[in-house]
Amino acid sequence: MEGLVKPASAANGDRRVLVTGAEGYIGCILTARLVEAGFAVDGLDTGFYQNGWLFHDGRDRPGVRCRDTRRVSVDDLAGYDTVVHLAELSNDPLCELNEDLSFDVNHRGSVALARKAKEAGVKRFVYASSCSVYGAAGAEEKTEESEPNPQTAYARCKVLSERDITELADDKFSPVFLRNATAFGASPRMRFDIVLNNLAGIAWTMKCIKMTSDGTPWRPLVHVEDISTAVICAIEAPTEAIHGQIFNVGSDEQNYRIREIAETVGETFPGCSVEIGSSVGDNRSYRVSFAKIRDKLPGFACRWNVRAGAEQLRRVFESIGMTDAVFNAAPFTRLKQLRHLVQTQQVDNSLFWRTA
Ligand SMILES: NC(=O)c1ccc[n+]([C@@H]2O[C@H](COP(=O)([O-])OP(=O)(O)OC[C@H]3O[C@@H](n4cnc5c(N)ncnc54)[C@H](O)[C@@H]3O)[C@@H](O)[C@H]2O)c1
Repeated sequence: MEGLVKPASAANGDRRVLVTGAEGYIGCILTARLVEAGFAVDGLDTGFYQNGWLFHDGRDRPGVRCRDTRRVSVDDLAGYDTVVHLAELSNDPLCELNEDLSFDVNHRGSVALARKAKEAGVKRFVYASSCSVYGAAGAEEKTEESEPNPQTAYARCKVLSERDITELADDKFSPVFLRNATAFGASPRMRFDIVLNNLAGIAWTMKCIKMTSDGTPWRPLVHVEDISTAVICAIEAPTEAIHGQIFNVGSDEQNYRIREIAETVGETFPGCSVEIGSSVGDNRSYRVSFAKIRDKLPGFACRWNVRAGAEQLRRVFESIGMTDAVFNAAPFTRLKQLRHLVQTQQVDNSLFWRTA
């Protein structure tokens, strides 16, 4: 798909950016935003969720090279100023399914990619980390200085990748780590396996949110457009502002209890009831401080909150007449889709495509 890249604008056009995971939930929004901001951008993605496209948004996106990050060469990365690395197995259940594979893609794969990027002369490496590194943290607010307490293989991989990619930093190579809160909001490459999007889909299709748990755990949330803003700010910031830095991505007002998220979604979808349970299910609970990104990353601010995100999703569901079948379709739930690809032998047990 060479040749689809938009002509670059004067401001950013001489900055070449490669986005791995460009066909994922975040990548699909980020690449559109980068094109709109005038960057010369390319995508790279193995295409696990390519048959899931929830709605048409009319935005331009760059061409995407079909490549597994574990098989990317130094040559593939030559000529880019910045690599934004999103291509990982992207949630806890996925990584619990096959821990070894998770470490292969999310830890060793990401570190090897960063090393090749450095060798190729890439100057900046933006790594999509996660606030889930804080794990079981209770009500105390965590900052970038707090000791991580990862509870899952997914979160442990993020901690290890941050540590090992930091080692590569020098005067020619600047990694920066964005610890994103849990994302929400509309993306054509939708994910219904993340909390707000899932609750919104349930509210729309079943008109009833029934939680078995008491919904007390804390979870910071951030809109996918605001994550994209953070990435763009990290690309544009002066080197000294980002070199080897970790930033929590979100806003202080968006530390929610799961129960509050369910109630707000319920209020946004007319006729939807919400029942809260009593069991204490999930030990992952964390509140996060977003003071550093607010104060130190030039230009960053969150423009969305949970209510606005739920309303956005309701408008999308209305506009496409979303059915149960669409809500439950495999590509929109990452674990379901990968299981399907393995079961149907489209990919092997290491998640490499088998060619027909
Ligand atoms: N969505 C969130 O709530 C959230 C929160 C914090 C951090 N993150 C991180 O942001 C990144 C992107 O998340 P997302 O929600 O867009 O996930 P996603 O699953 O929607 O997208 C990941 C993309 O990467 C691709 N991919 C996976 N493994 C690959 C490989 N080995 N080679 C090439 N491509 C590969 C997939 O095909 C997919 O298109 C991930 O690293 C994730 O851990 C996401």
